[in-house]
Amino acid sequence: MADIGLVGLGVMGANLALNMADNGHTVAVFNRTESKTDAFMDAAGDLSARLVPCRSLGELVAAITPPRPVVMMVPAGAAVDQQAEALAEKLAPGDLMIDAGNANFRETQRRTELYQERGFAYLGIGVSGGEEGARYGPSIMAGGAAEAYARVEPILASIAARYDDEPCAARVGPDGAGHFVKTIHNGIEYADMQMIAEIYGVLRDGYDMAPADMAAVFDRWNGGRLKSYLIEITAKVLAATDPDTGRPMTEIILDTAGQKGTGRWSAIEAQDLGVPATVIEAAVAARSLSARRDLRQTGAARLGAAAGTASDPLGDRDSAIGRLERALLAGKIAAYAQGFDVMTQASDVWGWNLPFGTIARIWRAGCIIRSVFLDDIARAYAEAGAIDNLMLVEPFAAMLNEAEADLRAVVAAAVAQAIPVPALSSALAYLDTMRSARTTANLIQGQRDFFGAHGFQRTDRDGDDFHGPWAMGLGG
Ligand code: 6PG
Repeated sequence: MADIGLVGLGVMGANLALNMADNGHTVAVFNRTESKTDAFMDAAGDLSARLVPCRSLGELVAAITPPRPVVMMVPAGAAVDQQAEALAEKLAPGDLMIDAGNANFRETQRRTELYQERGFAYLGIGVSGGEEGARYGPSIMAGGAAEAYARVEPILASIAARYDDEPCAARVGPDGAGHFVKTIHNGIEYADMQMIAEIYGVLRDGYDMAPADMAAVFDRWNGGRLKSYLIEITAKVLAATDPDTGRPMTEIILDTAGQKGTGRWSAIEAQDLGVPATVIEAAVAARSLSARRDLRQTGAARLGAAAGTASDPLGDRDSAIGRLERALLAGKIAAYAQGFDVMTQASDVWGWNLPFGTIARIWRAGCIIRSVFLDDIARAYAEAGAIDNLMLVEPFAAMLNEAEADLRAVVAAAVAQAIPVPALSSALAYLDTMRSARTTANLIQGQRDFFGAHGFQRTDRDGDDFHGPWAMGLGG
């Protein structure tokens, strides 16, 4: 009999099933298109001994030892509802449904309630690491009841990536908490990727650097404080050449970025919670604008080249490279501070009690944003417990102080040369606002009171409902 079932043998599902089999678990698998199951079994090699191909959901359910855990790895959205409903018809009370796709956490909350009411257990787990991660060790962020997670923890921990021999799998909270944390992971992923792309833009358009030379720069950075999977693969993407034309791959790839929704969800949730996640928002917007290629082509034709200055405020190429590295680090600190802030507020609002240190720890390996930087975050949480904003605690405050001038110089140089850096400049504006003891919102309060009598607080008296002289017709 199988220990667990898995429905949906797409790239992620197939690799998760192989990973489980590889770690000694017997997995019953089912895919709606039967030929996919056959192809999967043919390719499984020796692992097929621990894989039970099933031709129907009924067969799948009959093949698993009760109480049955069944992983659904189907596209987020309506497909999950259909799959869960079909499973519910076959499963017995007490069985456990696990949605391992990139679901919207609100849908996971709804489904958890729905299926728990019907006697099933339900987990929503975020799985990060792409194809390779699914096969050899993803990072797993689980949400749901503690008892439900405990039932599959041995399996999930065994297939997860490991950092210092600690599995990168954890229950982070009830119902939708796991999918929420995965959503924010992806928002941060968008921010990281966008800022890297902006730095690439400065090197390409400001310094006319060839992709192979840029690859060497990113490769070198990967030996320092920016060491991370995304920097590593950036170097590889830049170094690759197109086998058909011999040209650098980055010259061949069209500049329109796709997105499946998780980045946008993280920006939407941040807005909903009233938490500024401006670096993430800028990254989402940049992807959206990149996709409007026709509009940009018209813009390029109608508006022409900007009257950028020819000056080179970053200095020669070598000193510029050092400044760009530190600017990227500063931007990264702002993006992670925002992402963790969104999770902190969500945790309060939903009563999740998210374990931030654990989240940082399980992001250190397996997932797309894995980096040495996350080890610093994990340590900061271990030392401080609760953190208001990552930018304000060590070692990040010191890193920011060291790198801030470089972020400013890079943004200024890019602006002067008309190279768009929306995420890096958002990070800088966030940093500048965070250090402002006095903002300009006093004027906004005056405006609000002027046109809507919304009231304001005064600097010199207690109370929160003062009005300006305009209220009496004296203002103007
Ligand atoms: C991961 C990735 C993964 C996937 C996203 C990317 O953590 O493994 O985030 O979930 O790559 O679907 O989404 P976009 O298509 O929106 O870039």
